[in-house]
Amino acid sequence: MSYKILVVDDEVNMLQLFQKVLTKEGYPVTTVETAEEALRVIGSTLFDLVISDLALPGINGIELFKAIKKDYPHLPFILITAYGTVESAVEAMKLGVYDYICKPFQMDELKMVIKKALHQEELHREVTRLRRQIKGEYKFHNIVGQSQQMFALFELVRRVADSESTILLEGESGTGKELFARAIHYNSSRKNNPFVPVDCSVLPETLLESELFGHVKGAFTGATKAKKGLFQEADGGSVFLDEISNLGPSAQTRLLRVLQEREIKPVGSSEQFKVDVRVIAATNTNLKERIAAGIFREDLYYRIAVVPIYIHPLRERKEDIPLLINHFLEKFCRTNDKKIKKMSNEAMKVLIDYNWPGNVRELENLMERLVLVTDEEAIGLSSLPSEIKVSQEMLMKSPPEGKPLKEVTLQAAKQIEKQAIKSALAKANGNRSLAAQLLGISRGTLYNKMHEYGLLESQGRISRRKFSPKTASLPRTSK
Ligand SMILES: Nc1ncnc2c1ncn2[C@@H]1O[C@H](COP(=O)(O)OP(=O)(O)OP(=O)(O)O)[C@@H](O)[C@H]1O
Ligand SMILES: [Mg+2]
Repeated sequence: MSYKILVVDDEVNMLQLFQKVLTKEGYPVTTVETAEEALRVIGSTLFDLVISDLALPGINGIELFKAIKKDYPHLPFILITAYGTVESAVEAMKLGVYDYICKPFQMDELKMVIKKALHQEELHREVTRLRRQIKGEYKFHNIVGQSQQMFALFELVRRVADSESTILLEGESGTGKELFARAIHYNSSRKNNPFVPVDCSVLPETLLESELFGHVKGAFTGATKAKKGLFQEADGGSVFLDEISNLGPSAQTRLLRVLQEREIKPVGSSEQFKVDVRVIAATNTNLKERIAAGIFREDLYYRIAVVPIYIHPLRERKEDIPLLINHFLEKFCRTNDKKIKKMSNEAMKVLIDYNWPGNVRELENLMERLVLVTDEEAIGLSSLPSEIKVSQEMLMKSPPEGKPLKEVTLQAAKQIEKQAIKSALAKANGNRSLAAQLLGISRGTLYNKMHEYGLLESQGRISRRKFSPKTASLPRTSK
């Protein structure tokens, strides 16, 4: 894990020295010359340590510490003092400053203090995590998880929810990006104002622009009256721009203006309106690749990804699988008025080993199906769909005895093929042309294979929700 350090000093030489030494130690460093600037950047980046000179023009180092402590009580803070001001530094330690260093100092001494401070920060996080574990707090606004990755995200969301920073949620399809977007909104002081989700992948560019920013009468054929955009409807709240990679060039430019100037310009209008909206965006494609391909504006990317949040695929956080299975079993048994079911040990093991290309959504759908189709109280191995069991068997066992080798190989190849198609569809978020491209086959071949493997029906489940401007500002029910 790399720790981010913020250094505040009005002497540019010192800043350069810090930058050089700390970068060499492998720490990403941000340097600023005043406390005012420090307070500005601290709201938008998550630092693990602050090092500040005591004597600064304007707000001094101790006042800066006090201001930071209010919002980030556990962020370690190291003061740099000149010989004559040691007394105030000692006073500052009583207030909670982690340590101080006197100028001139040896770099080794500084490195030691930094290491210790970061270690303390790490311990603090660990203790919080363990406490939560003991209390059984595996839930955060309906988000279930007990893996390191999830705990880190819960912590991050707590820290950034109430800031104004734009957030970019990245992760494969079905990992929970929308769930996190809602958690962020409902953990912020905007929670009593609207949360407006917009799926950028379903409308053609011109329509999407007028949906987002509104239009004036006569802006285009069919615009018989002026219409408010979703950004205006979300005033005071948050707009969730889902699948942001699909925004066309003109919508990208307008969005950039919203983020820079906090103003919107409806389509066809020369007037601008102030809006107060927090933007949360999500993507399951790599935006950096889109930038390299010239499809996505780099300046917009940096405006959006002020706080990038990456949600790991389920196969990389297997500790969450049993927890999620029990959570969904309980949920679907309750909603279907069934006696609570359990997963048998063997079945649980297979499900933990499975690689879940469709992530939590795939697991959720499977649990719903299992609750409906099994009558037994314990769900056994035999109830699991064959593709899950077979892909597992293939990994775990040698080919079944007593069958012609050719048949065994064909069977195995088909399972791998099916798995690859499912992964590609999940990666392409259900877009068949893109999935076909990823697999290096034609769209027609993909269709035929999906038919053969019974994937046409199950893809219906992952296919994206339809956009309806009428319901866009209402909370949506889960998929
Ligand atoms: N950690 C979790 N705990 C509980 N439910 C989860 C979790 N992660 C995802 N889900 C559920 O899985 C489903 C998919 O989640 P969500 O819609 O947020 O995914 P997504 O990343 O937005 O997917 P897509 O890219 O396909 O839009 C939802 O029903 C959501 O409630
Ligand atoms: Mg989504």
